[in-house]
Amino acid sequence: MKAAIRNRYGGPEVLRISEVETPVPKDNQLLIRVHAATVNRTDCGVLWGKPFVFRFFIGLPKPRHASTGTDFAGVVEAIGKRVTRFQPGDRVFGFNDNNCGSHAQYLVVPETYPITTVPDNISLEEAAAAPEGAHYAYNYIRKTKMKAGDHVMVYGATGAIGSAAVQLLKHIGANVTAVCNSKNVALIRSLGPGRVIDYETEDFTAGGEQYDFVLDAVGKSSFGVCKKILKPGGLYMSSELGPGNENLYLPFTTRFASKRVVFPVPTDIKATLTFIKDLLAAGHFKPVIDRRYPLEQIADAFHYVNSGQKIGNVILRIE
Ligand SMILES: NC(=O)c1ccc[n+]([C@@H]2O[C@H](COP(=O)([O-])OP(=O)(O)OC[C@H]3O[C@@H](n4cnc5c(N)ncnc54)[C@H](OP(=O)(O)O)[C@@H]3O)[C@@H](O)[C@H]2O)c1
Repeated sequence: MKAAIRNRYGGPEVLRISEVETPVPKDNQLLIRVHAATVNRTDCGVLWGKPFVFRFFIGLPKPRHASTGTDFAGVVEAIGKRVTRFQPGDRVFGFNDNNCGSHAQYLVVPETYPITTVPDNISLEEAAAAPEGAHYAYNYIRKTKMKAGDHVMVYGATGAIGSAAVQLLKHIGANVTAVCNSKNVALIRSLGPGRVIDYETEDFTAGGEQYDFVLDAVGKSSFGVCKKILKPGGLYMSSELGPGNENLYLPFTTRFASKRVVFPVPTDIKATLTFIKDLLAAGHFKPVIDRRYPLEQIADAFHYVNSGQKIGNVILRIE
């Protein structure tokens, strides 16, 4: 089979498209023909091995999986004799933020893996684009107990996390204010937030509005900047560590303050998949797709994603 492989950490130049042996499923495993994956910001961490601490999960001193790839959508090609939940021919999608090597034509995973069937009305590309951003977004919502009626600002609504967060928050009935650049105002408005702020023409912290939650989904702002737009009792959270890694220690130092920082650690991918599968089927969540690249151009896809300029998700097509 064809796969994007590397044997050390580094930039896209360490990746090669190679012919490697197609894996054979064990008794408890599925063989999946991967049709689409994404190149996402988690994959960038997997490729570069950054931050360094990530290597304790994905392989030290070298990558555990030769292939990159954290999410996938495809068709079950074969099953081991103890597999009961899936059949050959099932359309499935899944995600593993510690890398599952899905930038390849075939993948074997145990049936207990974070994987589920794709709703009939959803294409495999849409399914591949669904889990990564939604997993992080759903964890912020779930772990901070955001609920209907809460006022939530999503800063960086054009990212994979931000564009998923806007839709998931709208679904639970929150009052969402989304912040994005001028050229994507119409796109972000189409995701259904109550209000869109163009950060290029308007200071998103001006205007006097206050929020129960501010989610900095691209990690480009800070608690210091956002504190004044939090209501008393309000929470700030970011998808990044922040200036000087402050988002790691601010949850402790603001613990008894009126306005606090939280840094929820994303867990339970199976719960996310169960949640988003129903939303996808009902049309309440439509992952935003930006560019599509063939597997052979994976290096270009990584360069683009690592630029921090993608809108939503970047698809890798695996023929
Ligand atoms: N905590 C975790 O476990 C975890 C997991 C995955 C990703 N992440 C991190 O989360 C962040 C977001 O990832 P993502 O994949 O959702 O999105 P992304 O690819 O980083 O988002 C890119 C989008 O953000 C916008 N953006 C960039 N700078 C901005 C700014 N100053 N203000 C507002 N928008 C800005 C860009 O458009 P414009 O610049 O044109 O506005 C672009 O559309 C990344 O830093 C990633 O490393 C964290």
